[in-house]
Amino acid sequence: MDEPKSDVLLIETFPTNNDSAEGFVAIATINRPNKLNALNAEVMEAIQQLCKWVDNNDEIRCLVITGAKPVEPEEGKRAKPNSFVAGADISEFVGMDSKATKIKFTNNAVEALWNVAKPTIAMIDGFALGGGCEIACSCDIRIASLRSKFGTPEINLGLIPGYGATQRLAKLVGYGKTLEMVMTGEMISAEQASKIGLINHVTTNENLHEFTMNMAMTIASKSNYILATAKRTIKAALNNSLDDGIAIEAEEFAALFDSKDQVEGVRAFMERSKPKWHDC
Ligand code: COA
Repeated sequence: MDEPKSDVLLIETFPTNNDSAEGFVAIATINRPNKLNALNAEVMEAIQQLCKWVDNNDEIRCLVITGAKPVEPEEGKRAKPNSFVAGADISEFVGMDSKATKIKFTNNAVEALWNVAKPTIAMIDGFALGGGCEIACSCDIRIASLRSKFGTPEINLGLIPGYGATQRLAKLVGYGKTLEMVMTGEMISAEQASKIGLINHVTTNENLHEFTMNMAMTIASKSNYILATAKRTIKAALNNSLDDGIAIEAEEFAALFDSKDQVEGVRAFMERSKPKWHDC
């Protein structure tokens, strides 16, 4: 595989486990465990490269993004906690002014992740704070372990979220809960996050990987082409009125009848066989 190489973002690929769609699920692991996988400039650059690679590589059928597990502590030092991503790297904020901040936060890696056409899943095991919560919100699906914690603590730094939480978190959990999270800066548990719709599923810590991979493999068994159409059409609901969104759906739905994979899906059903997708 020609995946981008970076010490702070490790990429593994897993072959699909079905006959309908050959290819891979990619797991990208943000790898700064001693800094709770905080998003520094190097990580953000690596995520941008990852997103380009995922969309340009026909073999990748689903992207899972996660955080590295804690490493064994040095003798006499305490172990670091589990973390998905504990936010933007706060040490990079020192001395920044508004001009530098605009450059850093415009067209950033969280937007790149949001704009990936392929399916994306955040596999969350531990702190998902600030930019970590925003990375999760930029994925299509969020699955978390019971020990995970979510929050937007920027208020404690004299800030508001800058990687999209004021908008995308509000779309997920609503206006009221977003205001509460942003204004208190307090963390919520995975179970609370599940209740308010911030995450799709909460699992035991031990089962997180298997649960996530099962879902990733299910998604990876579908047509890339139809998945991209589904994602684009559902996301249209965020930026359009209901009437306009329904009109967009009607166009997208009808257009699929000119695709090979619609013909293949219906053929397979009628013949009681498994589809073999063409991705077009
Ligand atoms: N940016 C940079 N470094 C961070 C970080 C961040 N967002 N979050 C954690 N770290 C670093 C700590 O500085 C520490 O580094 P060190 O061991 O070299 O001193 C290491 O990660 C471990 O964090 P620590 O604070 O010691 O762990 P803890 O278990 O006591 O607390 C948290 C965990 C998540 C509660 C705490 O680290 C925290 O509040 N982090 C910041 C969260 C935040 O505000 N995010 C939004 C940023 S915009």
